Amino acid sequence: MKKILAAFLCMGMLASCGGGDSKDSGSTEMSDGTADNPVYQKGLSLVAKSDCLTCHKVEEKLTGPAYRDVANKYASMPDTIITHLAGKIRSGGNGVWGEALMTPHPAITQEDAEAMVKYIMLLKK
Ligand code: HEC
Repeated sequence: MKKILAAFLCMGMLASCGGGDSKDSGSTEMSDGTADNPVYQKGLSLVAKSDCLTCHKVEEKLTGPAYRDVANKYASMPDTIITHLAGKIRSGGNGVWGEALMTPHPAITQEDAEAMVKYIMLLKK
């Protein structure tokens, strides 16, 4: 419950939680050429335009899991995981990483959600 509350507080303070064009988005952290990948760039720009960064950071857990942890968890899964995770972004939910809830994002198309997931998957280490 505390975490959910924190998420809502966080949404109220978009600026301080990295909702804008934040330097925490991860784009400057990649030094191995991943940042030049068009798949990475497309997904990152979609993520940055949506509300994802109010709950997620690349390296650190906020309300939601760190994107790098998500990437590492699913790295060895078959490609169908991309469809599944995109569906989860659109429908929201909890229970995989804890009790905190991801809000649904029905306005995001399946295609855009998959592009976001592909970006996240590139963050694995
Ligand atoms: C209100 C906070 C919040 C917002 C906004 C949010 N998320 Fe999440 N996200 C979460 C939480 C909490 C979880 C963990 C859910 C669980 O445990 O099943 C999560 C999980 C995920 C996962 C992993 C899902 C799984 O089943 O392992 C992905 C991928 C993800 N989010 C991507 C996104 C993207 C992309 C956006 C922006 C469109 C976004 N999230 C917006 C809170 C949020």
